[in-house]
Amino acid sequence: MAASDRFLLAAVMGWPISQSRSPMLHNFWFAQHRLQGSYVPLAIPPEQLGKALRALPALNFAVCNLTIPLKQDAMQIVDQVDITAKRIGAISCVVVRPDGSLAGSNNDWYGFTYNILDFVPDWRADAGPVAVMGAGGGARAVVYGLLERGAKEIRLCNRTHARALKLAADFGGPITVLKWEQRHDAVDGCAMLVNATNQGMVGENAFDLRPDKLPKTALVNDIIYNPRQTRLIEAAQARGNRTVTGLGMLLHQGIPAWRAWFGIEPKVTAELRALIEASL
Ligand SMILES: NC(=O)c1ccc[n+]([C@@H]2O[C@H](COP(=O)([O-])OP(=O)(O)OC[C@H]3O[C@@H](n4cnc5c(N)ncnc54)[C@H](OP(=O)(O)O)[C@@H]3O)[C@@H](O)[C@H]2O)c1
Repeated sequence: MAASDRFLLAAVMGWPISQSRSPMLHNFWFAQHRLQGSYVPLAIPPEQLGKALRALPALNFAVCNLTIPLKQDAMQIVDQVDITAKRIGAISCVVVRPDGSLAGSNNDWYGFTYNILDFVPDWRADAGPVAVMGAGGGARAVVYGLLERGAKEIRLCNRTHARALKLAADFGGPITVLKWEQRHDAVDGCAMLVNATNQGMVGENAFDLRPDKLPKTALVNDIIYNPRQTRLIEAAQARGNRTVTGLGMLLHQGIPAWRAWFGIEPKVTAELRALIEASL
């Protein structure tokens, strides 16, 4: 859809939704690009997701993002799911097409990759083993991003072992699943560690990981962005590891969405980052 003079309505659906920083992000870009429009948060319980998505065309919404816990459920509702979202198993972004049908895609993997590259431009996913903690929707996007960049060894640990096995079976490729209790050893010799569990986010316990075996040269990424710096990131910095926090993943996933929605390439600027960080 080309940017036009008409008033553009966009939304993010989640349950709960008050924690979402997507309205702040997208309304910043609306103002910056002088688009007439508004991006609103919608609290949608999972059992109402079908009705809510189907109401988008009648309400004149052009686009919609999805956040926890609706990303997987949307797969069964929209009319078309692109190949990337199918592989990840979750939809982060829905476009309302002119005939009112709904097309789903997933940009979280893009946010993960370009957040890392923003801070570490020479980052290579194939530099050595990568330990990924978690096997939920976020972890699936991370694994997709790592494989897409040519990762040669991914060590996957998740509290619920079966979920990690399912992820590895769905993706195939160089993924070794280790038991949750083995997570402290899984980081031995790794070039990168990614926390994609929810442990460390506001309201949750800190991520319980002994990093003794993680090389000091390893890059540590936490995809959590609230708080701005998790205890894992602080501990990694204290021992001299390079770190990347999770906010940029949220910011960068908006770029391909805007390309698809409005044909515009928005920028992740220091001003935008500061605006959202100030709210955390
Ligand atoms: N920066 C971004 O743009 C971005 C994008 C996506 C997600 N995220 C963040 O990533 C985190 C995970 O999101 P998600 O969508 O993947 O959620 P999810 O699908 O609900 O998965 C949650 C993950 O956390 C694990 N977990 C939950 N409680 C745990 C505990 N007490 N001990 C150990 N592991 C535990 C789960 O393990 P089980 O399988 O055992 O339950 C699962 O691996 C959230 O904090 C979310 O905000 C950030």
